[in-house]
Amino acid sequence: MACYAERRRRLIAQLSDLPVILANGWERLRNPSNTFNFRGESHVIYLAGQLPPGAFLTLHNGEVRIYLEPVSVEDAVWSGPGESWSVLANLHEASLHPLSELSEYIAAVGAEKWASLPVQDPRAQNYLCQLLKRTPDCHGDERDRRLAEALVECRLINDNFSIGELRSAGYLSVEAHLAGMRAIRAGKDECDVLAAMMRVLNRAGASVSFAPIITMSGERLHQPHVGGTLQDGALLLIDFGAENAAGWAGDITNTWPVAGKFTREQRAVFDIVTKAYHECVAMLKPGVRYLDVHMRAAEILTAGLMDLGILRGTVSELIERDAHAFFFPHGIGHLMGLDVHDMEDLGDIAGYQKGRARSKRFGLNCLRLDRDLREGMVLTIEPGLYFIPELLDDPQIRSSYSDCIDWEKVELYRGVRGIRFERDHLITAGGSECLTPGLPADAAEIEALMAQR
Ligand code: GLY
Ligand code: MN
Ligand code: MN
Repeated sequence: MACYAERRRRLIAQLSDLPVILANGWERLRNPSNTFNFRGESHVIYLAGQLPPGAFLTLHNGEVRIYLEPVSVEDAVWSGPGESWSVLANLHEASLHPLSELSEYIAAVGAEKWASLPVQDPRAQNYLCQLLKRTPDCHGDERDRRLAEALVECRLINDNFSIGELRSAGYLSVEAHLAGMRAIRAGKDECDVLAAMMRVLNRAGASVSFAPIITMSGERLHQPHVGGTLQDGALLLIDFGAENAAGWAGDITNTWPVAGKFTREQRAVFDIVTKAYHECVAMLKPGVRYLDVHMRAAEILTAGLMDLGILRGTVSELIERDAHAFFFPHGIGHLMGLDVHDMEDLGDIAGYQKGRARSKRFGLNCLRLDRDLREGMVLTIEPGLYFIPELLDDPQIRSSYSDCIDWEKVELYRGVRGIRFERDHLITAGGSECLTPGLPADAAEIEALMAQR
């Protein structure tokens, strides 16, 4: 618990006397008596751990308050008694108050004085705005911006406690990927793989950090449907991460050959993607600009596509024209933490340091991070190559790029569909450390491992 106090101290030190209120959100209803699984707001988890639905956290005048809805007898009958208030108060060195008294406290300090952040849950967002006497879309004034920037500064640089949590989420993610790989058999279903992976998480009281992507349609970057029958000769792209019991995320992508062996074309594309991954990882250290890591990936992927005969020209010209982006239309990665795209609820405040803004160029517009790297940051490296029909069959693109894309060669590789390779890395003083180690990154190693299934 000392780590929560220390995080709050670091936050408050940046804000001087600005009072802060954060909402944890309520359970979202799917219909009046059934809810979706509850997960609190990440900023609240960061500062106070996992609090019950409906909790509000205030920081003011050196005092930490937690406002909660009392558990009624009826709630206890249906869902259990919940954590006792005295346990919570001791855990958090906070005073606990009934939610019904929150508006009085807000008004006593002055509704207009508080800084806050938007909440994903619309009910909590409305409640918060009413308390603060704001309109529902009013987050983002000067006080909120100061709070957002201060929280980003805290969450960006992981403390030992959060690094431990990210290691545990990484470890669970690795174990799940190994279980998934072992479940791959032609004739079985993508859902069988999902079930094997979920079993690993559920046994550890964990869940997923985002909707699983387990698909033979690897060219669909975030294909949500899991349900096809596994085909010999196909690749199965698995982008899957654990959220550990404390709420911290992992995010790994592997692309496995269903048959246990890559075809010549699959292997050729896979080797380019993993080369880009290794070269990017070799660049990681404090002071390096993440955009440069992205551009290095673009260069290697472009050179690889030239070796395959798909692209023609020079690497720099092709990149200048965004030709590579038809095959690599996303960024090289993103921040990781309590959220899989950490702190993206704050827009680009976390991902882009002051003075930098997201490019509008195709491909680069999906780069979620452009900061100079600092020790303690955690991020992903996830190059990929894709053969996306909507881009490759677009008549305008085909004619504009006919001088530098060999459309016949594209047909040779179209069946590869999509390959992505992703791991999570902690920036250390001298470089980086993989937080998701123990999975093969080499085609021959993958084939050897899959032969033991
Ligand atoms: N799974 C989402 C991502 O890799 O960014
Ligand atoms: Mn990712
Ligand atoms: Mn991912």
